[in-house]
Amino acid sequence: MKITVIGSGYVGLVTGTCLAETGYHVCCLDVDPRKIEILQNGGIPIFEPGLEDMVKRNVAAGRLHFTTDVAASVAFGEVQFIAVGTPPDEDGSADLQYVLAAARNIARHMTGYRVVVDKSTVPVGTADKVRAAIADELAQRGADLPFSVVSNPEFLKEGAAIEDFMRPDRVVIGVDDDRAAEIMRRLYKPFQRSHERVLLMDVRSAELTKYAANAMLATRISFMNELANLAETMGADIEQVRQGMGSDPRIGYHFLYPGVGYGGSCFPKDVKALVRTAKENGHTLRVLTAVEEANEVQKLRLVEKVVSRFGEDLSGRRLALWGLAFKPNTDDMREAPSRVIVEELTRRGAEIVAFDPVAAHEAQRVMSGINGVVFADDMMQALQGADALLIVTEWKMFRAPDFEAIRRSLKQPLIFDGRNMYDPAWLREQGFDYHAIGR
Ligand SMILES: NC(=O)c1ccc[n+]([C@@H]2O[C@H](COP(=O)([O-])OP(=O)(O)OC[C@H]3O[C@@H](n4cnc5c(N)ncnc54)[C@H](O)[C@@H]3O)[C@@H](O)[C@H]2O)c1
Repeated sequence: MKITVIGSGYVGLVTGTCLAETGYHVCCLDVDPRKIEILQNGGIPIFEPGLEDMVKRNVAAGRLHFTTDVAASVAFGEVQFIAVGTPPDEDGSADLQYVLAAARNIARHMTGYRVVVDKSTVPVGTADKVRAAIADELAQRGADLPFSVVSNPEFLKEGAAIEDFMRPDRVVIGVDDDRAAEIMRRLYKPFQRSHERVLLMDVRSAELTKYAANAMLATRISFMNELANLAETMGADIEQVRQGMGSDPRIGYHFLYPGVGYGGSCFPKDVKALVRTAKENGHTLRVLTAVEEANEVQKLRLVEKVVSRFGEDLSGRRLALWGLAFKPNTDDMREAPSRVIVEELTRRGAEIVAFDPVAAHEAQRVMSGINGVVFADDMMQALQGADALLIVTEWKMFRAPDFEAIRRSLKQPLIFDGRNMYDPAWLREQGFDYHAIGR
């Protein structure tokens, strides 16, 4: 089976590469010539653990190639995955212009049957729009060609994307016709060696499943963040509460970590888009509206703690900040809480010396408009002469740092930990003034 993947970003590149890894021949298209040039020269344009080696291996085996040539990419695969971005529009709804442009491109160049697969996260009803766009282009060409539109939302997590794709918990396929259902089943056969993971359903249910899953995860985070803030006031330790509630199998331990709010390219925009879709259809999603509000407040939590320690005016204060990416193991800075934190602290006059093992370069780009932030190459170097250390992303390398060296480097032993990485009692014994979330 030959497969085309349209959009070679976090999802498209992982999808294409993992499909090639199982033996398929894959063509990855992107409209960004810079990305394709990097890929053609043996590099990868993003950071994702394990991806670069897998790309190299499959390119060398002749199963994976990259192009900006739309006509060639449409000619290549019977299955055409659309994995382009769906950023939030001004009103919070998902902007479908890239998805629909990709669909129209397929229709302009196809000469035989094509299965068009929406892998991007798209609102309920998008498959109908994709179908209409393709039918319209075909009509303009006077071409009567068969095609199917399938919804196949992606559940991979950045930082563990390859593992997630190669060993998925489930593969959701929304499909309305037998021909495409058979092709999609066959396509995902290599990913279900131990048991069946494909969930076949109707297209609209598949589209909604993706939003429902992300909205649920975002809800758990906001719920824990609000409880953490309460715990702090009440003298309870949210970490103990988390374990006490997570041990109930109906609740489970996943996604119960309080912190500095959720970010990234998915949760913020997907929660917004679902609220918006509901509104357009006469529903108010009250729980999700509150989830979003709680998240906006939470992003300022660490700033509030710094301000209550040093006062509103932070001029003359130097603050070391560890972790910029919205979560560990990625260079993705989209909607990262660090952006809000750095902006708020520098607005009050603080100087930030930031360190991130992977996302610093991308952070430098997205924070280029902010005065008062510099980037250190080394986590300990960032601490030199700083008034305090702030932890924003829970990279593994921050788990067991040399606290003696931290004490020596900082002006005073003061830590604001937005990820609850350390044992408060122990740190206090060591003489640290330690402020975490909900403890
Ligand atoms: N990043 C994640 O963790 C994740 C997880 C699950 C689902 N998703 C969803 O997958 C989709 C893609 O997300 P992403 O993070 O990979 O985005 P991304 O921005 O990393 O990649 C999108 C790529 O599509 C390219 N593109 C845009 N229009 C194109 C066109 N007409 N033809 C060819 N290429 C085109 C862009 O140049 C870009 O390289 C989104 O809908 C997102 O919500 C993302």
